[in-house]
Order: sequence, then structure tokens, then C-alpha cells
Amino acid sequence: MFESIAAAPPDPILGLGETFQKDPRAGKINLTIGVYQDEQGRTCILDTVKKAEARLLASETTKGYLGIDGLKDFARLAGELALGQDYPLERVAAVQTPGGTGALRVAADFLAVHFPNMRVWFSNPTWPNHLGIFQRAGLESKVYPYLSDDKTSLDMTGMIDALEREARAGDAIVLHACCHNPTGIDPTADQWSEIAELTAQRGLLPILDFAYQGFGDGPGEDQVALKHIAAHHREYFVCSSFSKNFGLYSERVGALFGVSPTRDSAERLLSQLKQAIRVNYSNPPRHGAAVVATILGDAGLRAEWLAELAGMRERIHKMRHSFVQGMRAAGCETDFSFLLNQKGMFSYSGLTPMQVDWLKTQKAIYMVGTGRMNVAGMTPDNLPILCSAIARAIAESTVKA
Ligand code: LMR
Repeated sequence: MFESIAAAPPDPILGLGETFQKDPRAGKINLTIGVYQDEQGRTCILDTVKKAEARLLASETTKGYLGIDGLKDFARLAGELALGQDYPLERVAAVQTPGGTGALRVAADFLAVHFPNMRVWFSNPTWPNHLGIFQRAGLESKVYPYLSDDKTSLDMTGMIDALEREARAGDAIVLHACCHNPTGIDPTADQWSEIAELTAQRGLLPILDFAYQGFGDGPGEDQVALKHIAAHHREYFVCSSFSKNFGLYSERVGALFGVSPTRDSAERLLSQLKQAIRVNYSNPPRHGAAVVATILGDAGLRAEWLAELAGMRERIHKMRHSFVQGMRAAGCETDFSFLLNQKGMFSYSGLTPMQVDWLKTQKAIYMVGTGRMNVAGMTPDNLPILCSAIARAIAESTVKA
């Protein structure tokens, strides 16, 4: 049977990372996958994670299975972090999931069983895996405009118009709660208010992908979208990831929160989410969630972690400024100052697929084919090389055109 199977195309993000690893060229630069790198280009383990692990090593007594919904302390503390200290605990079905991807997939599986005719709306562009996750679960996907023609700002009118015209009551809409992936362009607070009002008016179910909490302006500040959605909707999903803000990428720590109108409906929702999990991966892994719960549950570690998170956020911010200056210094005609308004790890550079390909083949500089750059992959050392290579890619393609 397997002889007849055609090969699947490589993943547009992770597949590129694999190609990067195999590239033997010295000085290669990786701006592909959304992983934080420090000034030396290393993805280190946070000090608070090491400390929490030391505590766990000394105190853990079992590797027995967790419940289907995971570690209870983790769900409570992660809920407070994502939804705010005063969140309506009794109206939230909270489950621990393998990463933010796991949270999205559990939500998608649940929705596909209970609302098979629902269509799911995604921003154009979005994280490519969004479409795959919901389509594989069996739901139809639709896209709404997000990026203006100039590729540097939000197409608010296009987005609102498309949803007003075509979205049906009972559809779901995936919203990037902060640090939009791949563009880095977030709606303002006023725009979020308008979006939340519209989604409520149209009877859409919001699914907030909260993979980068803390990488915009801070964990609390990044709740702007969520607060507006909460003010207008009685029902919504929040998919949290702890890969980036705790640097726990390979531990696969995430959470799904299903906010419900009543305690009773939250209980029933939880039972259904547990069923979706049981037939998928049975129950989640313990270690990463125990690390997060240890940090969030201890005032000292929590404060230290917030400082580590601020350090990551500020370094990325600094790199945005250095990149814009570096492009000017490299004599590039394109003004990249639009990057300064963008939030989180990513930026849409506006580079064309041909320019991106040229950078890869000629200069061993890797970014996603759409021109998405992981700003967290820029360092003071690689910036001059990066900026002059991008300036050259732009100049050469202009001459050819
Ligand atoms: C990314 O967009 O690079 C990250 O979310 C990692 C991934 O799984 O694609």
C-alpha cells in the first residue's frame, strides 16, 4: 500500500528549518521558525525554568498519568495568566494541551463533531498550519483580508467588509490575540473594539490564538483583544502556548480555554473536550506544565520570569530598530521603518519569493517564502551581513525588473 503513496510537500516553516540545519555554509542566518534566540544566536533554557526543574527533580514522586484534562494547578494558573486574575473560573472549561497547536486541534475536533456546518474564518495571511488544523478536522475554511496592498498595515475596511458581507451566524473566526503571525501587524485597541462588536453582531464564535502572550507589550498589555472579545461575547475559545514565553518549545505546553455562558454549560463543554483529547493523545505530558505551574505559583519565580520575558521582548524590539537603521546604512531605497510598529517575533518584510530565494541560495539567509522574518533571529553580529544582503537582493531585482 505504501508504495503508491506520493510524498507530501515539506512544511513551509518547519521544513525550511530542516533545510537550514543541513546547509553546510558558515555564517548562515536562520530567520525562519518562531523561536527566540539571544544575542549570541542561542535558544537557551530560561533560568526560572532551570530553577523550577531543580525543584521538581527534588519533589516529584510519580510519573503516573495525568487526567485527560491535565494538571489542575497548571490549568488554573495558566487561566489566570491568559484570561486575567479575575477571570470567571466557573464558566471556563480549561484543558492542558500539547502546545498551542494541540489547543487549536482539540478545539477544531470538538467543533467539527458538534457544529459540522460551521465555517472557520482566517486572516489572509495567517500561520499556515491554522488552515491545515481546521481542514484536517473536517471544517471548511474561509479567509478575510488582513493586509493592506502596501503590505505594511492592517486592511481594517477589507476585513470588516468581508465579514459583514459573507460571514454567517454560527461560523467561527480565528483571531491572533497579539503579535500577528506572520505579519506582526496588530489591530489597535479601538480596532479590536470594532472587531469584537462585529463578531458578536454577526454571531461568530471567536477562537483567539494566544501563542505570543508577553512578546507584544507585556503579558497583561497583550490581553487587549481578549478583553474586547470578553466584553462582547459570552462564548469563545482561547488557545495558549507556553513555547515562546517560557521558552519551552520542545516540552509542548499549551492550554485550551472554552469560555461558556454558565457553569453548567462549561462542565458539559469540558466533558466533550476531554472526549476529543482521549481519542487523540489520551492525556497530556506532565513535565512542561509542571514547570510552568511551579513558576507561576511562586511569587519569586514568577517575578523573575516576568523579567526574563521582558528581556526577550526588549531584545527583539532593539533588533527592529537596529535592522531599520542597518537597512538605511546599507543604502537601501526601501524604508523599513514600518517594522517599528509591528509586534512580536515576526515581521512581514515585503520581500518577494524571488528575493527570498536569492537570499537563501546566494547568501545562506533563510526566511519563510512569504517574506516573513523572525526578528528574534537577528543579532548584533549577523545584522550588518543581513542588511547588506537584503539591500543587494532588492537592488538586483529592481535592475532585472
Ligand atoms: C512559527 O510560526 O514559526 C511557529 O509558530 C512555529 C511553528 O510551529 O510553525
